[in-house]
Amino acid sequence: ATEQDLKGRRVLVTAGPTVEAIDPVRFISNHSSGKQGYAIVQALVARGAEVVLVSGPVALPCPAGATRMMVQSAQEMLTACQQALAAAAREGRPMDAAICTAAVSDWRVKSQSGRKIKKQGQQPPALELVENPDILATIAHLPSPERPPLVVGFAAETHDHLAAAQAKKARKGCDWLLLNDVSPQAPGGSAFGADTNKIVFLGPSAPQPWPSMGKDSVGQRLAAMMGAFFNAG
Ligand code: PMT
Repeated sequence: ATEQDLKGRRVLVTAGPTVEAIDPVRFISNHSSGKQGYAIVQALVARGAEVVLVSGPVALPCPAGATRMMVQSAQEMLTACQQALAAAAREGRPMDAAICTAAVSDWRVKSQSGRKIKKQGQQPPALELVENPDILATIAHLPSPERPPLVVGFAAETHDHLAAAQAKKARKGCDWLLLNDVSPQAPGGSAFGADTNKIVFLGPSAPQPWPSMGKDSVGQRLAAMMGAFFNAG
């Protein structure tokens, strides 16, 4: 039987892509399938955690035992996360951890068209983009007790992996960061959509390369580390 070392712990997980509307029929998004985030949710539930999953549009069913909130855009994902964190704090049982696996769109279209954009003459339309809120950084900078004691991010990099991930960890203020290579040339292919992932774990000490493994195994390894984190001392 799986160890129940996360029993009574509450964890917020983001997963999947976000979808940013251009007009009623078009959008900006990415290739995240949600597999990595959902595998983490399953592994956390298996160790006894209570999990709130905030998910962008994916084809996966809600993992048994988790509570799921479906969202479309980055702004909706942020609002759902803030509400879940605030509600838990109000109940006197704040979230113990937040894990941001979602591939949040960095940009959205400045002004969405309420009507389908039509071809006009020879000129294609110019899309003006604005930056989306950073959900991981927002969570990591919340005041206590909304800010969970353990905030975990992912970094999807195609080049200069380690330096970029270390800078990202510092900038966003998370405690742990799981770097994955998402270039098409990565061993096993890009982590987006694949069944396997090759992680370099960045925690308080030196970077720790994990072997390439199934996304389920990544989830189990992360959940076991969280069990050890919360039960240390
Ligand atoms: O869903 P799968 O097909 O299984 O693929 C898994 C994955 C490759 C999507 C996943 O393992 C992964 O790497 N997720 C993070 C993808 C990403 O957007 O990385 P990033 O380096 O752009 O962002 C860094 C961190 O900030 C991430 O934790 C991300 O969730 C978070 N972020 C980014 C932008 C933003 N506006 N808000 C955020 O919270």
